[in-house]
Amino acid sequence: MDFSIKAFDWSKAGTPSLLAAKSDCVVVGVFEGQTLSGAGRQLDSLSKGRVARLVKSGDMTGKSGSTIVLQDVEGIGAARVLLVGLGKQDKFDVKAFSDATRAAWRALAQTRAANVTWLLTQTPVKGRTADWAARVTITIGRELAYRYTETKSKPEPEERALKKVTLIVDPLDEKSAKVALKQGLAIANGADLTRELGNLPPNICTPTYLGNTARKLAKDFKLKVEVLGQKQIEALKMGSFLSVAKASSEAPQFIVLQYHGAAAKQAPVVLVGKGITFDTGGISLKPGASMDEMKYDMCGAGSVLGTMRAVAEMGLKLNVVAVIPTCENMPGGNAVKPGDIVTSMSGQTIEVLNTDAEGRLILCDALTYVERFKPAAVIDIATLTGACVVALGHHNSGLFTKDDGLADQLLAASKTSGDAAWRMPIDDEYQDQLKSNFADIANIGTPGAGAVVAACFLSRFTEAYPWAHLDIAGTAWKGGAAKGATGRPVPLLSQFLIDRAE
Ligand code: BES
Ligand code: MN
Ligand code: ZN
Repeated sequence: MDFSIKAFDWSKAGTPSLLAAKSDCVVVGVFEGQTLSGAGRQLDSLSKGRVARLVKSGDMTGKSGSTIVLQDVEGIGAARVLLVGLGKQDKFDVKAFSDATRAAWRALAQTRAANVTWLLTQTPVKGRTADWAARVTITIGRELAYRYTETKSKPEPEERALKKVTLIVDPLDEKSAKVALKQGLAIANGADLTRELGNLPPNICTPTYLGNTARKLAKDFKLKVEVLGQKQIEALKMGSFLSVAKASSEAPQFIVLQYHGAAAKQAPVVLVGKGITFDTGGISLKPGASMDEMKYDMCGAGSVLGTMRAVAEMGLKLNVVAVIPTCENMPGGNAVKPGDIVTSMSGQTIEVLNTDAEGRLILCDALTYVERFKPAAVIDIATLTGACVVALGHHNSGLFTKDDGLADQLLAASKTSGDAAWRMPIDDEYQDQLKSNFADIANIGTPGAGAVVAACFLSRFTEAYPWAHLDIAGTAWKGGAAKGATGRPVPLLSQFLIDRAE
């Protein structure tokens, strides 16, 4: 699917109308209970009142997300006109725009249109600019276009006809929209990588596979990469990380991928991703039902790799370091047991009361390791707790940080990208739940607030820099018939880094 930006001014008289131009489909928005304006009005007059009659008939009410495809509309160059309901004009906000855009992509996929002129990007959205609209249009379109085929012996034939999409904007917005086009494609490519890694089976997407993916990114985008193996991880004294990896026959890997877009002295943003390529629970074995889905326990790592790809393709002017501890969590004769006490790289001892709380055990050593970068900020991304899914469901990622500035930046990026996140508490009061009689800290807390307590565990290793934690257990994956990885929170993280680079 190829995207391009084209400027068009509807107010300028005398220019041949864009609507007279040949294409397979033109996508036009219609507000609810509103007289037509801009493209809609011209469409109506060229087609001798066709749109007005349709609205009058009640077949197109303009209700948000409603769509209708018209064929052979008189006076229009396109073979089809896709009308998309935008809802009430005074309520045309980020959500209404995104809903309408999603509906338009879905309706378009039902047609055989290959070459499409897209006018929805020209409708002003409350508090947003045209470049924002272009970026979101591309990321939503590409999200819906993603198909997993890698491990099917006979991939279903490509049902999509769509080839070329021209996004129309006002002439004044052309320059910024062209930048947004590049950004949107980069974010979509990053999210595709994240989806693909999350969907690949755990016998293919192993720690070694993630290491090789990082190496390939480094080669393709001129990044610096190091992939540390067992011996080197031992030398770093990551006793907590290694305890999780112990019973697996897959070698653990510790991935460090660096992007330099700014002066070397500029402190980097560090992204740390949980890379459990399969979580059986270990000796504290998980129940069998849906255990297959625990292949997505590396989606933190996947989203960090996807975001690095996006950042590098965008060429953002800042420094970003990705750090990924990755291994399997398996049971076995030599597995870490409940009651074992391990020593983390920080020197703090940890009583492993439940081997299924392994994410925090691999992350804590990575969080100590990253101190060497003297980071401007560290964000870890992890499918960390089932409790976060209970608290927030599948819509919002859980955001935990004591740093209000960092929280505001991440929440703003979340709003802009449409990749929802919700700030959760992380007060010191919860720390008491992690007391251990035999070590400095236990790896699980007393019952209650499981997602918060997990964040509190991580916070013990993050004293040296501003830090935030994103729990994506509910948002990285979709269950049900459309089971699969979502590519989140690549849009949120990419937007956060775009904003920081400005
Ligand atoms: N990977 C899981 C968390 C998870 C659960 C992710 C459901 C996605 C969907 C994590 O390693 C885990 O098992 N956490 C335990 C922690 C508990 C033992 C304190 C959990 O949430 O049950
Ligand atoms: Mn677990
Ligand atoms: Zn896990």
